[in-house]
Amino acid sequence: MSYQFHYDWFTPYLSEVEPELRSLAGKPGLQILEIGSFEGRSAVWFLQALLTAPGSGLTCIDPWQITPEMVDFEPEIMVAWAESRFDSNTALALQHSPAQLQKIKGPSEAVLPLLPAGSFDLILVDGSHRAPFVLSDLVLAWRLLKPEGLLWCDDYGYDRFVEPHWNPALAIDSFLACYQGFYQLLHRGYQVLLRKTGEGGKPGVLREV
Ligand SMILES: C[S@@+](CC[C@H](N)C(=O)[O-])C[C@H]1O[C@@H](n2cnc3c(N)ncnc32)[C@H](O)[C@@H]1O
Repeated sequence: MSYQFHYDWFTPYLSEVEPELRSLAGKPGLQILEIGSFEGRSAVWFLQALLTAPGSGLTCIDPWQITPEMVDFEPEIMVAWAESRFDSNTALALQHSPAQLQKIKGPSEAVLPLLPAGSFDLILVDGSHRAPFVLSDLVLAWRLLKPEGLLWCDDYGYDRFVEPHWNPALAIDSFLACYQGFYQLLHRGYQVLLRKTGEGGKPGVLREV
């Protein structure tokens, strides 16, 4: 049995953030969440490169079906084989990783509110590429991160939508603006990487009325 991948949206930009991520490698009990798993390429990398210690875990969320929101996916790419490839690719990687895999089939906006707060060391946001959904994923994922946890936003540079307000950058910039004081920006390129640092510092100052 060998790994079966049709597309590689993962490795071309991995080097942007890999040095920061490598610091997590082999951490006992490491917990990673990914939103958007497709064929499992990023999941396999997490299992091979980071989730090598006992007690570690990977949670993968993906509907593995075309929804009306997925205007940037050709249906034939998705429905026929992406989920079965995910299953066989992760099964292969799990032969060499002690991690537990939790696969959750469904849209992130329904699944993320059900997960326990403060439970992940690293969250990859790589699901829907439409700005409203990216924004929702970032806000919902934030609650799930441990203090000092890393939030990894893929596709900051994705620009396939003609209308700029549909592309992920608007959502990521909006999130960064609203949560300033709560994070340390580690990288901003095609990928964005943040560390959750605190509670926002001083409370906002109210204008006199
Ligand atoms: C670019 S692919 C993910 C690639 C994967 N992370 C990798 O590197 O191999 C995007 C995935 O997001 C999924 N997706 C789209 N909308 C989603 C949503 N609302 N919730 C969760 N996943 C979603 C799609 O089904 C697709 O499999």
